[in-house]
Parts: sequence; C-alpha cells; structure tokens
Amino acid sequence: MANYLITGGAGFIGSHLVHALLERGDQVRVLDNFETGLRQNLDPVSDGIELREADLADADAVRSACEGIDYIFHEGALPSVPRSVKQPRPSHEANIGGTFNVLEGARLAGVKRVVYAASSSAYGNQPGFPRVETMAPQPLSPYAVQKLTGELYMQAYWRVYGLETVCLRYFNIFGARQVPDSPYSGVMARFILMMMRGETPTIFGDGEQGRDFTHVDNVVSANLLAVEAPAHLAAGRVFNIACGERHTLNETYALLATLLGFEHPPIHGPEREGDVRDSLADISAAFAALGYAPRIGFEEGLRRTVAWY
Ligand code: UD1
Repeated sequence: MANYLITGGAGFIGSHLVHALLERGDQVRVLDNFETGLRQNLDPVSDGIELREADLADADAVRSACEGIDYIFHEGALPSVPRSVKQPRPSHEANIGGTFNVLEGARLAGVKRVVYAASSSAYGNQPGFPRVETMAPQPLSPYAVQKLTGELYMQAYWRVYGLETVCLRYFNIFGARQVPDSPYSGVMARFILMMMRGETPTIFGDGEQGRDFTHVDNVVSANLLAVEAPAHLAAGRVFNIACGERHTLNETYALLATLLGFEHPPIHGPEREGDVRDSLADISAAFAALGYAPRIGFEEGLRRTVAWY
C-alpha cells in the first residue's frame, strides 16, 4: 500500500486511475479544480479519497498536496489541440506552469516517482511510421508544445535532482467517462453521443487521417507498471502508450455506426487547424522497460465504450 496523488483525478483518465488504485487498497489524494473534471466521476468513491480542490497554477496548494505522497500520476491538464489553438494562454498556464508546480512540489516533498501524461502530439507530421521515441519531436500546436515541454521538465528533474520521472506519451485515449459534449471533446466520445442522439457527426477533412486509438484500461495498466518498473529502466525516459494499430476516422465512423445502428453517412468539413495527419505508435520500448502490452484492442474498446454511454 502506498500514498498516491492524482492530479486531474476527477477527469477522464485520472478518475480511472483513482478507481484502480482504490481497488488495490492504496491511499488516494486527488487534486482537481473541476474545470474539465466532473464530481460525478468521483461520486462512487468520495468516502475513500482525500479531495483537494485547487488549481495546478496555485503553487502553494500543489506543494501542500504533494506532502506525504509516494507516487504522483500527473494527469491534470487542459487538453485538446483546438482549445490550445483558440485559447493558448490558459492551456499554457495549466500544462506548463501546472506541470512545473507539480515537479517542484514533488521535489520538495521527496516524492519517489512522478508519472506524467505526455502526448503523442509531440511527433507532429514527422515522416516515418510507426512513431519511435527516439524520433525528433515536431510539435504543431500550442498543446503539443506544452505537453512536450512537460516531458523536458520531467527529464530535467530526473537529471538535476534525481527525482524519478516517467513520461507516458498517450495516443488518442478513449473509453467510459470521456466528456462527449464539449466543443473540445475527443472524437470518439463526440461521435458516439451524436450518433446516439441521431445527429450526423462531421469528419474534418477526408477522414483518411489515422489514429492509434487506445482504450483507457490500457493507460491504467501502463501507469501502474510505470510506478513499479525499476528506475534504471524507466526513470527519465519517455514511452509510447498505444495499441500499435492505426485506424482511419472513416473506418472508426463506420464501426461506430454499425455498433449504434446509425445509418447516415458522415458530413465532411474542412481540415482542423493544428491537426496531425497520421499517428501510429511503436510500443516495443514500453514493453521492454515496463512490461506494457495493450489488453483491450480497438474493436473491443469501441464495444465497451458504446455500451457505457
Ligand atoms: C491529440 C493527440 C492526443 C492527445 C489529444 C488531447 C495527436 C495525434 N493526438 O488528439 O495524443 O491526447 O490531442 O486532446 O496529436 N475530428 C473530427 N470531427 C470531430 C472531432 C474531431 O473529424 O468532431 C477529427 C480531428 O480533426 C482529428 C481526429 O478526429 O483528425 C482526432 O481528434 P481528437 O479526438 O480531437 O484528438 P487529436 O487532436 O488527434
């Protein structure tokens, strides 16, 4: 049993980690400002956790939240590429300033390890698939720059202060509890909700862009493994966390339409600013160092997600 801090613990991915840790019998403290996180994500476990309602930009609150903690899962962020294009400052402050505050808090409190939610957006439109962690990054959007800056900070804190940090580059995560009705919702949740309401989703561009869509249960197992992996294999390193498969939006739309009995073809709109064209991960480094392998495949993940909504 250990003491965990989960930043963004009321959010989509953070709340899955909260539930998984509680099931194992760990102690959980959540830090969330409820800007994008939802209280209802924590309702079933509210008696079993310590909740700190504060912003990642509040350095004192973050520092205090790190006290007495063994491990941090830093999931708190303002996600979404288009949000960062439209309003770069708030996402800059949350994603870079907030990450800095977490690292400082962790360093001062003597936390053993910080596992960071990094993003596949770091790769941009680099030539060469699948994406390998050794490729030079090419961030295309403010969001991608912010998440990549967080990685660099994580690595610097390992090198300079010996704080063990592990960066997990998430590739388009989907699953239960992903918010479906915000203009910045991930495509999967958005398409499911719209199809359920009988509304026709819009595909930005020709729909042949590909993503390595990854079910959230795979991310939970990657985080738990990242805490346990020996420091000489994991600390200061960056790992792709994905399924290792590329699926186009057209294909995803068709599968969801079949699962939901939705009969209308998609509307096609203009391409989205800051969008990456294709994404596909090499996940062999995460397997070698962490023992990570995806447990839930793409189609099984879609079925589970549709059933949840
Ligand atoms: C990006 C990152 C991902 C990160 C996420 C955080 C890449 C490859 N992935 O996801 O690692 O976790 O940001 O927000 O950079 N789309 C439509 N119609 C819609 C909504 C979206 O066609 O109504 C399209 C988008 O144009 C895009 C694809 O669906 O091509 C996926 O979009 P989205 O779910 O927002 O995720 P990414 O921006 O790919």
